[in-house]
Amino acid sequence: MAKGDNQTENVTPLNLQTRMSYRINSFEEYKEAYKKSVEDPEAFWSDIAENFQWRQKWDKVLEWDFEKPDVKWFLNGKLNITENCLDRHLKTRGNKLALIWEPNDPKEKFVRLTYKELHEEVCKFANVLKRNGAKKGDRICIYMPMIPELAIAVLACARIGAVHSVVFAGFSAQAIAGRVNDASCSMVITSDGLNRGAKQIPVKRVVDEAMEQCKTVEKIIVVERLGWAVNMVEGRDVWYHDELKQVSEKNCQAEEMDAEDMLFILYTSGSTGKPKGVVHSCGGYMVYADYTFRNVFQYDESDVYWCTADIGWITGHSYIIYGPLLAGATTMMFEGVPTYPDNGRFWQICDKHGVNQFYTAPTAIRALMAGDVDDVLSYSLDSLKTLGSVGEPINEEAWQWYHLHVGKEKCPIVDTWWQTETGGIMISPLAGITELKPAHATYPLPGVQPVLVDAEGNEIEGNDVEGHLCIKFPWPGMIRTTYGDHERCRQTYFSTYKGKYFTGDGAKRDKDGMYRIIGRVDDVINVSGHRFGTAEIESAINEHPKVVESAVVGYPHEIKGQGIYAYVITAEEVKDAETVRGEIIEKVVQMIGKIAKPEKIQFVSGLPKTRSGKIMRRILRKVAEGDTSNLGDTTTLLDPDVVDEIKAGAL
Ligand code: WT7
Repeated sequence: MAKGDNQTENVTPLNLQTRMSYRINSFEEYKEAYKKSVEDPEAFWSDIAENFQWRQKWDKVLEWDFEKPDVKWFLNGKLNITENCLDRHLKTRGNKLALIWEPNDPKEKFVRLTYKELHEEVCKFANVLKRNGAKKGDRICIYMPMIPELAIAVLACARIGAVHSVVFAGFSAQAIAGRVNDASCSMVITSDGLNRGAKQIPVKRVVDEAMEQCKTVEKIIVVERLGWAVNMVEGRDVWYHDELKQVSEKNCQAEEMDAEDMLFILYTSGSTGKPKGVVHSCGGYMVYADYTFRNVFQYDESDVYWCTADIGWITGHSYIIYGPLLAGATTMMFEGVPTYPDNGRFWQICDKHGVNQFYTAPTAIRALMAGDVDDVLSYSLDSLKTLGSVGEPINEEAWQWYHLHVGKEKCPIVDTWWQTETGGIMISPLAGITELKPAHATYPLPGVQPVLVDAEGNEIEGNDVEGHLCIKFPWPGMIRTTYGDHERCRQTYFSTYKGKYFTGDGAKRDKDGMYRIIGRVDDVINVSGHRFGTAEIESAINEHPKVVESAVVGYPHEIKGQGIYAYVITAEEVKDAETVRGEIIEKVVQMIGKIAKPEKIQFVSGLPKTRSGKIMRRILRKVAEGDTSNLGDTTTLLDPDVVDEIKAGAL
């Protein structure tokens, strides 16, 4: 299918109402919905949940305790999310396009699948999974490029009640192994290779290397994308296209799931230790992904919606697959990169497929902004109605460029703030409904109760204030646990501020009550919208035999938002700095992946530490920013002289 041999030429025109139900249509309605969601959250969410197909209704809407934490939504409700994404649309939207896939190479044919066709593909893949021994509750790792089979594999797992754990295809073999082992995955779904701009990458080879460290994987299903010869292990590895021939049944009965059963695990980085598996549940996640999709993007029935994220991240889970399909939308998926074959690729695709809602990351906008503006101006972009931004704070300059050159000043920009842990958008404008303010995520969605707290954990009341962003009441899409380690979930999110979910972000609330996210206040770095813990990068650097200790901080980077700056202590003085730098980078690439490469590596003889041995990252951040004017009091440091050395050697 990925080869473009399954084009649907005759798509039946739609005969449905164009506005979506339970969609907020005015600012007044937003205020009303918000008020209700705070005064009676259970009634509010229960009304929304009524719009889905449940095998059995819930007994109780919500049970919660943020101390433990223990959060349950739609208790004893039974459902399968794929019946809501696919089956329930078949009658009214069977011939509507569900998925449009645009390949890396514009000369290759695109693929379009109607709801009927996607349903069939998912059922067939689900039958292949079952044939290969997968069953409800099993964890399945998906390591794949952005091809239709990725979306199909995700949905096929959900269909049979297996828990998918998608690992972004830019991660290294080590990173895959860590994630596969943490969740004891019994199966991996992958491809022979992938296209990324002008490059082709041997994906299966990376998986093979990871498998040297994985004992739980019994089966690997390989999708053919490049037609490369790959190593197939007898009894373990099977080709997807061969397996398809073995399943004749075009339907697959969906597994009945409890609302609180696990739907998926998605690994994300935090300030300490190895990445943790964020767990999302079936019922609450479904309701939340759908509700936020409809309302933020204001999708109309005949629109074409495109989110440029990779399905390896939460944005792709919630706003390429689940949110849009739940809402019966036409969702687009793109295999390539914004700069191949040239800087106009995004805009060419928008015109080609008549994209109405376009959702991307500030880093992509900044990268394109750095190019020639004619790369945008040579496309009409007439179809665009709504623009979106996600992943990091969007600076005002990028916002204005996006608004003027892409949106032609007629498209609202929804700056959507949320996290892997929140499952869906939390603070954002509703396109065309609520007010915009450049670089501001603005107001919370109905059902979301944000608060700012000070260092002591006191709620900061009123407006024109700044603090740490917390959420004080549960929402259906929220994290339930971190896989295999509930205590870590409590520690990370629910222990800093008693009775509140702590986001790790700092934020301002302006005079009108609008939120502006400033960035992380913990040791998390956001590089091109990808999240890394400083500790995670440090431990990779420390793998290098010459390295004694290291400290990693983020610094402002024009395109990536933040770049990675590493201070490194070596056992002996480094003679050939460039060679050692190269080796250190190689270690990071090996342990995490290319996406976590340090931009700058400075060799130092010591690090600024307090007497109790804690690294003063504040000082390191200042030096990395190039601002050494005000480093604060350094006299309490164990070795104050080291600061001068660090300043002198700054890169
Ligand atoms: C962190 C979450 C949510 C999907 C992509 C990232 C930052 C995200 C915004 C925004 C400012 C943002 C935050 C957050 N972030 N969206 N609109 N404005 N910052 O998911 O990898 O879980 O990262 O991304 O710092 O905590 P993630």
